[in-house]
Amino acid sequence: MMEYADTQRQNKRTIAFVPTMGFLHKGHLALMEEAGKHADDLVVSIFVNPAQFGPNEDLATYPRALEKDLDLCRDMGASVVFTPEASEIYPEGFQTYVELEKLPLHLCGLSRPVFFKGIATVVTKLFNIVKPHVAIFGQKDFQQLTLIRQMVKDLSFDIDIVGVPIVREDDGLAMSSRNKYLTKAQRPHALLLHRALLTSQEMISSGVSDAGEIVAKAREILASCPDIKIDYVSICDLLTLDEVDSINEPVLMAIAVMLGKTRLIDNKVMEFG
Ligand code: PAJ
Repeated sequence: MMEYADTQRQNKRTIAFVPTMGFLHKGHLALMEEAGKHADDLVVSIFVNPAQFGPNEDLATYPRALEKDLDLCRDMGASVVFTPEASEIYPEGFQTYVELEKLPLHLCGLSRPVFFKGIATVVTKLFNIVKPHVAIFGQKDFQQLTLIRQMVKDLSFDIDIVGVPIVREDDGLAMSSRNKYLTKAQRPHALLLHRALLTSQEMISSGVSDAGEIVAKAREILASCPDIKIDYVSICDLLTLDEVDSINEPVLMAIAVMLGKTRLIDNKVMEFG
């Protein structure tokens, strides 16, 4: 992988990079399509990163479909698909991690303590191996995108970070590899996240500025399904992710729940005015 990157760079070709954990869907494909606008060559990585899963999370059962994924990457014009083994990324004796101080103390970081340390570390390694000029991330994982932008700035990575809007199913459910876990009975309940976000936007558009009032309504919508356990409903600053009390500029609204055993997240940048 490193030799390929060196050769492309020697030949003055630019590299766009889309890191993934596989089981690709249209959200991932949108990132690949965006990549084509920014560089000559596209590298996709598929690596289910053990370091970002907690001990009681779904590392062992995370859905995989390598052959199908490779076909999709080929169709999207990827030059290389990088599929390392965990033992290559984390060989015996591995002991250097990348950790951000503040951004992980919000949203998903609170209930997933190792998550962002694992992400920052693997993305750093992948950046060093793939040597991209530009890397593409989805707004579906808004906190991840925020954290990567901060890390790239803090550690002086010479890489442009591009964000891509959330790709949704026709009914509004944010696409996710984990949607595969949902049973037929659960699937309609998964729509409540998007519904809560849309209702919140309507409240803001009609002049409600009290974040507490909006969060309470969103919680009520989610709680209408007894199978949903709310992790967080948060209205926060777009850059720091600090919660806000009153909405007087565009803010992020982010939701995470467990629907049965499946963790679902969704978010929306709330327009103001
Ligand atoms: P994964 O969940 O496979 O997602 C890979 C990329 O696809 C991320 O940038 C994510 O935000 C984006 N993505 C997923 N669903 C999307 C959707 N519905 N719309 C738009 N973009 C979407 O995120 C990871 O993997 C990992 O944490 C990784 C960055 C690869 C590090 O291990």
